Amino acid sequence: MEGVNEIRRGTLQEQTFYEQVGGEETFRRLVHRFYQGVAEDPILRPMYPEEDLGPAEERMTLFMIQYWGGPTTYSEQRGHPRLRMRHAPFKVDRAAHDAWLKHMRVAVEELGLSEEHEEQLWRYLTYAAASMVNTAD
Ligand code: HEM
Repeated sequence: MEGVNEIRRGTLQEQTFYEQVGGEETFRRLVHRFYQGVAEDPILRPMYPEEDLGPAEERMTLFMIQYWGGPTTYSEQRGHPRLRMRHAPFKVDRAAHDAWLKHMRVAVEELGLSEEHEEQLWRYLTYAAASMVNTAD
């Protein structure tokens, strides 16, 4: 008979990053805090076409959830992310990149994740931000 402390073969499921860091709530907190920064930012705020930042916040939240292994609601609503293409209408220069990452940094730190999770998240965000730059000046 199996011991009570044994894990039955095949029942140990690997958790996604999304689950490991606390699921939907964590990503909602991250992106909400980020958009509080955007709302006050003299470079970023004017770039957003809509007066209400709420819908943009929701799109970014659903994207992050999907990227990190949660539900795929983003693609159900928006299709393939194609982020570079979706950013093409906006002038993403060095200054916009730096401002974007500055607000993300604050938001990431406030999550209080483990060092490993924080590093993994931050590595992705810095890489993704660099790849979104589409204007040299
Ligand atoms: C580097 C500086 C960046 C700037 C200045 C910027 C700016 C913007 C702007 C103005 C929009 C349109 C707002 C809207 O109506 O949704 C947008 C959309 C979006 N951005 Fe960025 N962004 C940057 C980087 C990134 C990065 C690194 C990611 C992902 C890791 C990202 C993810 C998204 C997503 C998911 C959307 C919504 C796309 C859609 O479904 O339409 N952005 N961004």
